[in-house]
Amino acid sequence: MKKIAIVPGDGIGIEVTREAVAVLETLRKRRHLLIELVPFDWGAERWLRDRVGLPAGALDELRSDFAAVLFGAVGDPRVPDMAHGREILLGMRFQLDLFVNLRPVRLLNDRLCPLKGRTGSDVDMVILRENTEGVYADMGGIFKKDTPDEIAINEDINTRKGVERIIRAAFELARKRDGKKRVCMSDKANAMRFAHDLWQRTFREVAREYADIEASHLYVDVMAMEMVRNPARFDVVVTNNLFGDILSDLGAGLAGGLGVAASGNINPGQCSLFEPVHGSAPDIAGKGVANPMGSILSAALLLDHIGFHSEAQLVEKAVEKAVAEHMTTRDLGGTHSTEEVGKFIRGLVDEAARG
Ligand code: NAD
Ligand code: IPM
Ligand code: MN
Repeated sequence: MKKIAIVPGDGIGIEVTREAVAVLETLRKRRHLLIELVPFDWGAERWLRDRVGLPAGALDELRSDFAAVLFGAVGDPRVPDMAHGREILLGMRFQLDLFVNLRPVRLLNDRLCPLKGRTGSDVDMVILRENTEGVYADMGGIFKKDTPDEIAINEDINTRKGVERIIRAAFELARKRDGKKRVCMSDKANAMRFAHDLWQRTFREVAREYADIEASHLYVDVMAMEMVRNPARFDVVVTNNLFGDILSDLGAGLAGGLGVAASGNINPGQCSLFEPVHGSAPDIAGKGVANPMGSILSAALLLDHIGFHSEAQLVEKAVEKAVAEHMTTRDLGGTHSTEEVGKFIRGLVDEAARG
């Protein structure tokens, strides 16, 4: 039996996770999958009630008993400093050592691409974001707060081990993917000459071991422009934690917006976390209009990670079909609710799983 932790979190995280869970339940019944979905109430509500983000022992339990986590989103206007989100989401990313943040950028349908004349073969890349260090390491502090002499520091942590393992993961992924077999590393070595010199040297060294993969480099400012100007040139993109955060929202924009972007926070072979790229979207929370596709596609990445490859494909195909048939929420131009889109997708999944 594979246990999957369900952590809806806050805002639309709750609404979209409900639909992804219903898809998993459909598959569990139809395909007799040996999975057990276990809900957890970690999020702003619990934080405000008893100041608990990740309860004591939660990480150990995930590590020892769970195959994966399906996560919604964190973020609540009542917790303006995001203290709970750092403890819950960054806590799991860091302490489960989920060093690969995998963010596919793929067009589900040509009409979703905002770029003139671009089609599915042009927009098909994966962003691999380093997920356990960089400026997210939360090292730093404030000196002389609220005085004219205030100093604020956030350290940017880059270790040889951390940089090497994500770069290696990028080359391994490029080898497995059909087609272009390219890795492009993006940094800002022209300004950040110590930290990103480490990225450059490590990239060159690792690239030498993968002669079958084309290795290239772009500074992150040019990278952002090139992703818009000529996305077809990219296959696997590897970068640090902060740049990966930014470039993956840009990537989501190229493929139809945040509503459809899925991600995995992965440590190969260990309990890993899957979540839509978007946040809790307070502007639309509670209205029933959030697009559940990012969450449902994250559930597909989860299924793939725990070994249910054909089921994962079936879910992806169902989402593609929903887009093709205009069964979408308003962010994709449709008129349907979160619930209607979820119901339609699991109907297709149910049908395909039977056949
Ligand atoms: P956001 O991703 O929540 O929303 C950005 C915009 O995209 C909003 O206009 C929103 O309505 C829209 N959007 C997002 N997801 C959508 C969906 N599924 N369907 C339709 N529209 C969608 O980013 P934000 O507004 O900058 O952040 C809101 C909160 O979420 C903040 O507290 C932020 O820190 C947090 N956040 C959390 C995560 C996470 O949990 N992984 C990710 C990003 C942001
Ligand atoms: C994401 C989010 C998070 C990040 C925030 C909520 C800390 O934007 O998952 O992309 O920056 O990693
Ligand atoms: Mn982000």
